[in-house]
Amino acid sequence: MNPFLINNYISPEYFCDRESESKTLISNIVNKSNVAFFAQRKIGKTALINHVLYLLQKKKQTAIYIDIYATQNLKELTNILANSIYKAFPENKGIGKRFWEVIKILRPIISVDEITGSPQLSLDITQTKQFENTIPQLLKFLDQQNKAIIIAIDEFQQILNYPEKNVEAILRTCIQQLKNISFVFCGSNQKMMHYIFYNAKRPFYASTSSINLKKIDKTVYAEFIKLQFEKHKFKINTEDIELILDLTDCHTYYTQRLCHEIFARGVKKITTSIVFQTINTIISDNEAIYFQYRNLITPSQWNLLKVIAIEKKLEQPYAQKFIFKYNLGNSANVKRVIEALSEKELIYYNSTIEKPYYEVSDKFLMFWLQHK
Ligand SMILES: Nc1ncnc2c1ncn2[C@@H]1O[C@H](COP(=O)(O)OP(=O)(O)O)[C@@H](O)[C@H]1O
Ligand SMILES: [Mg+2]
Repeated sequence: MNPFLINNYISPEYFCDRESESKTLISNIVNKSNVAFFAQRKIGKTALINHVLYLLQKKKQTAIYIDIYATQNLKELTNILANSIYKAFPENKGIGKRFWEVIKILRPIISVDEITGSPQLSLDITQTKQFENTIPQLLKFLDQQNKAIIIAIDEFQQILNYPEKNVEAILRTCIQQLKNISFVFCGSNQKMMHYIFYNAKRPFYASTSSINLKKIDKTVYAEFIKLQFEKHKFKINTEDIELILDLTDCHTYYTQRLCHEIFARGVKKITTSIVFQTINTIISDNEAIYFQYRNLITPSQWNLLKVIAIEKKLEQPYAQKFIFKYNLGNSANVKRVIEALSEKELIYYNSTIEKPYYEVSDKFLMFWLQHK
């Protein structure tokens, strides 16, 4: 099996570091303090949640994970939550049996998921008032079971896209009253997550502690890569590991992906040229998408994107020196373009470090832009 996972979490064996973040998360959960954490895409938020839930489940803690990215409204959120509670507790005894009593009146429908083949529960709720009450009811029920339960909600910012505008208030009000359930909220869209948690006018303001997930430390990642390759009798030297981490800027997904593809080649002695060949293959597979990006944005946006790729880390986009170097017009111009690129998530603003900077979000696109 390829030890470099690129789309899921399996077990600690394939998971690199995140020790202090895991500790912080667990200590928050144990102390019933709700946590919100956000970071750029593909840096490892979902994997970290799953890692922590894995560790807690090993200790017989009940953990419920839901990803609400695909939900479009409060009703779908309600259903996904009801379904995950249904799955977390066996139907025929204890909590599961009592849960069934509670939701019976909500006309549950059990169907079989076409893809996974596992049973799915959905509630036949029709009236708005009814489903505004259902989540509070479900959570209250869980809370009354006198059992510590963790609920992790991934891609939480999605609630801002619902047509119902009171979802935050509904959730916040009932969460406040719970004693046995701790929540982890996670999301990729920085702007929306900040809006939910850092805006003094919003219900969730100051209601959680927050964790910022940064890139994995380079030395720690290098050791992990070496170990994973060596376990499978591959040989790779320190310089080539360093090269991989430079090419991917130490960003989790891109590092995993590059290592995954190198591993997949099956050549036991990894050389510099194999590293380059592999990244070039990935990039040529993606090239059609990069050209599509170019068609979707304005020439000045494309131009600045390329400049940011070349700079790698852009700390001061409004400095005269920078604007002059690349002939970018005036700072108001640059500001507008940067906003547009951030909005499209083509660039990411690392704001939680001492010297904040902009970077191209997609590291393979970055490499491609640098060499075009
Ligand atoms: N600490 C880690 N060690 C190894 N692989 C990881 C780690 N964190 C994430 N990954 C891998 O990187 C990819 C992206 O991580 P993911 O958790 O989906 O990112 P996010 O939720 O932030 O978008 C996943 O395929 C996951 O398997
Ligand atoms: Mg995720």
